Amino acid sequence: MNVYDSNLMASILEKEGHKEAETLDDADVIIVNTCAVREHAVRRAMTRIRGLKNLKKRKPELRIGVTGCISQIEKQNILTKIPFADFVLGTDSLKEISSCAADRNGAFSDFASDAIYSELAPARGKFPEAFVSVMRGCNNFCSYCIVPYARGKVKSRKFEHIIKEVVELSHSGYKRIVLLGQNVNDYKDRGKGLPHLLKAITKIKSIERIGFLTSHPAFFPLHIFDVMKDEPKIERFLHLPLQSGSDRVLKLMNRGYTVSQYLEIIEKARNKISDIALSTDIIVGFPYETEKDFTATIKVIRDISFNSAFMFKYSPRKYTLANSFGDLTSETEKKERLQKLIKTQSAITKEKNNYYKGKILEVLITGKNKKNSLESDAITVYNKKVVVKGSYMKGELVKVLIDDIQGCSPIGVPLKEPLDSRKH
Ligand code: 5AD
Ligand code: SF4
Repeated sequence: MNVYDSNLMASILEKEGHKEAETLDDADVIIVNTCAVREHAVRRAMTRIRGLKNLKKRKPELRIGVTGCISQIEKQNILTKIPFADFVLGTDSLKEISSCAADRNGAFSDFASDAIYSELAPARGKFPEAFVSVMRGCNNFCSYCIVPYARGKVKSRKFEHIIKEVVELSHSGYKRIVLLGQNVNDYKDRGKGLPHLLKAITKIKSIERIGFLTSHPAFFPLHIFDVMKDEPKIERFLHLPLQSGSDRVLKLMNRGYTVSQYLEIIEKARNKISDIALSTDIIVGFPYETEKDFTATIKVIRDISFNSAFMFKYSPRKYTLANSFGDLTSETEKKERLQKLIKTQSAITKEKNNYYKGKILEVLITGKNKKNSLESDAITVYNKKVVVKGSYMKGELVKVLIDDIQGCSPIGVPLKEPLDSRKH
């Protein structure tokens, strides 16, 4: 979401005649777009901003802005903490970026119900893949999470604006679209939800792959699996954050589902799409999480056998309900649990990767491989990165035989001639 917002600001500024600077020294304006989801991210952002102090001293006309979730939460405080910052923009104030980049100073961080930037298409980075935001904000108030405070209530983009953006992307040659939202199940525009969006995008001819992030297990629209099953362009992949394998902890987290309800979704997914790839998010060391709760999480992780997982130590966040519980698990214990979890999941991921061995898969070429220019990077319909032997054009679909797994990467031998040996 933050990458998307950075691109959005870049496109607003480009329309105003600004250009991306090659280096920090070349820049007339520096904007640090921040994340507040965990303390680690906040610390990194603040170190980065403080690191700009000398540059500003040397070049007083340089304009420095802080945007994103920390700005939204801290508002005016940022200007006290970072006195050399010229402007601060909250998550609903991105449109102010043009005037602030020019000469307007101060903090602008009011929530606005219409700040959905529905009609704005952001600048793009990673051709041939593009994120397309469908909604902003979150109404869920999970007890550990700062997002509802940092990004406000759910706001959905207009259906036709999203489709228009994807059509334009398809005209520019983009092949993979990932629909983005804090909780994509909550997308709603005049009776149309995520399944409608997915179906409409499959009709856009040159779009080959469609993914969506992130779903929430409470009120999960199960009929989405029917849409996924019938539409080969929709990725066989679901990211569904579990957070904990203990009902007691899930309740404290205010997640709105039980482990067995979560397992039911997974069962339905696998019944409809037997080869669906699954990933999840887990938090360890939540207040009152006992060793027994943690063991329950490990068990669910083993039972489900996710293809991958993002795993985090609990980080107390100001304003959230859980902040009032205290930070009850010691750092050592959190570390130990995290390491144990990572070890468990790594073994599962490795085993899951072996599934691809010997399979013939159609992959989308995403670029040259950084380590070996004679190889290409690609992505499967399972949202799994693979390395393809040979040079191919970005955006090409290539059938490969996965003949080896190196580290985490399946290696694909193409069943199609590489670029340099093709007849012209
Ligand atoms: N501490 C640790 N992890 C968190 N997440 C969100 N808030 C916190 C927090 N306070 C994790 C959740 C979420 C992911 C994006 O970040 O697992 O799904
Ligand atoms: Fe945060 Fe929960 Fe909303 Fe996800 S669903 S953004 S974890 S409040």
